[in-house]
Amino acid sequence: MTTNLQPSTTNYRWWQTGVIYQIYPRSYKDTTGSGIGDLCGIIAQLDYIHDTLGVDAIWLSPFYPSPMKDFGYDVADYCDVDPMFGTLADFDDLVAEAHQRGIRVIVDWVPNHSSDQHPWFIESRSSRENPKRDWYVWADANHLPTRDGVLPPSPAGRGAGGEGNLPNNWLSVFGGSAWEWDKATGQYYLHSFLKEQPDLNWRNPEVQAVMFDTVRFWLERGVDGFRVDVAHFIMKDPKMRDNPPAQEELAFHRPHGDYDSLHHEHDKGHPDTHRIYRRFRAMLDEYSASAPRMAVGEIHIFDWAEWATYYGTPEAGFEFHLPFNFSLLKTPWQAQAVRRAVDELEDAIPPWAWPNYVLGNHDEGRIATRFSVEQARVAAMLLLTLRGTPTLYYGEEIGMTDVEIPPEQQLDPFGLRVPGWGRDRCRTPMQWSAQPNAGFAPEECAAPWLPLANDWRHTHVAAQLEDATSMLSFYRQLLAIRKEYSALHRGSYAPLNEVPNGCFVYQRAEIGETITVALNFEPAPQRLLLQGDGKILLSTHLDRAGAENLSSFILRENEGVIIQMQNAK
Ligand code: GLC
Repeated sequence: MTTNLQPSTTNYRWWQTGVIYQIYPRSYKDTTGSGIGDLCGIIAQLDYIHDTLGVDAIWLSPFYPSPMKDFGYDVADYCDVDPMFGTLADFDDLVAEAHQRGIRVIVDWVPNHSSDQHPWFIESRSSRENPKRDWYVWADANHLPTRDGVLPPSPAGRGAGGEGNLPNNWLSVFGGSAWEWDKATGQYYLHSFLKEQPDLNWRNPEVQAVMFDTVRFWLERGVDGFRVDVAHFIMKDPKMRDNPPAQEELAFHRPHGDYDSLHHEHDKGHPDTHRIYRRFRAMLDEYSASAPRMAVGEIHIFDWAEWATYYGTPEAGFEFHLPFNFSLLKTPWQAQAVRRAVDELEDAIPPWAWPNYVLGNHDEGRIATRFSVEQARVAAMLLLTLRGTPTLYYGEEIGMTDVEIPPEQQLDPFGLRVPGWGRDRCRTPMQWSAQPNAGFAPEECAAPWLPLANDWRHTHVAAQLEDATSMLSFYRQLLAIRKEYSALHRGSYAPLNEVPNGCFVYQRAEIGETITVALNFEPAPQRLLLQGDGKILLSTHLDRAGAENLSSFILRENEGVIIQMQNAK
């Protein structure tokens, strides 16, 4: 594979040239009236996904049997469908119907932890002698003095009840200690997230074998890829050493609770992680003989060199086709900062590897809220015209915003434990129409699982389909143009330097085709000096198209344009 200008000699895959659309199944379409979306609902919307939007792949957040403590990221059976979402037969129908339309299906795989209700954990905690004891990470209480000043006050019982000190100072992402005392067997178990999500012990070969079997299970059912949940968490320091205190100001995000007081050197991302993903990749490659399969890893690492190691190497073996690139979620929304984030990625990525970008998902605030409604179209144009695979979160295409959820209706355990970090706001039901429940659920449904956004009566798919200037109309054109012009979905990337500070301007090129993307991040017009003539293919304002002399080109406030350059060399 190459990333340069050799389309005729390069066999680009669907996961390179295509657009991935993330569906949060609970919130997409409810066909039963339960208030919770289901697999049949996704099947019902496949024509929308294919004909209206024109995306290439769907990624489904977990739909497996689960007590839903973390809304499906606590898996109680890796090889089935939770009855609230439907059945395995519904899943097979979904894959068949998607494939009939040429849509690929990516499922979530959650290797770091299961639910505490998974039969494996129930066995594991039943006694110290149980054969599955070592399938999870158990540790004795630590009776030695621990590093001072870095241990959080632990509601899990540090010193209480005779269990001694916590095994070490590791913290849960969702707040508090990462250790939970199991009174019956007198040891602690590790949970990097909720105590209902015990970490699997990936150092145990039996765990590796059964977990790889779960991957085969879905591959056999025809899935095209996996999104791997907190992929880098699976291997920890075998000596379980304390994490050192965080040294620097966190460059990228506001600290959440205690978690960011430590430098997470030992509780995730151990080098042995790569061994596992090389084997995982080999399995995907084996199945790719019939149809190309892919994996995208959720890797929250913001050191580019370390992040890039999750691609693997041609010498040691490949790992992820795409490690999610979350840099744009953490970058201030300013033209030069965004350009820097893009250029850093372009510099960091190995020459044979393929980039990708994310602007939203089920854990993050929505685009129109984070960057402003005015900038939401500029952001969409950026996401869909950079070099690499874009992942688009459901609802962004109609400009859904974060929804303020009253405290008594909040459900996300993260927000309940660490105030301000609730993720319910970006998971509200998809707004399909002005019908009751926004067309998300049938009329007889008393209430969707999360409240609808206040604007649901006028912000919805049906209305936006009728409005040539709507966000949906804009996304449809943007997606169509991306598909039509190979420079946009697989061409090279080169930023232009001589542009005003408030603008980010770059060219995407393939042999015989050059496209300029000019984005104005400011609420004021900007003059661009581009060379030659061009044809505007799309403006975020949807009110101009056609030939233009570019020698003195005005980009209006909050405007982005895609220009096909004439006489490109
Ligand atoms: C990932 C998921 C998030 C989940 C967590 C624990 O970050 O995206 O939703 O809560 O992992 O599984």
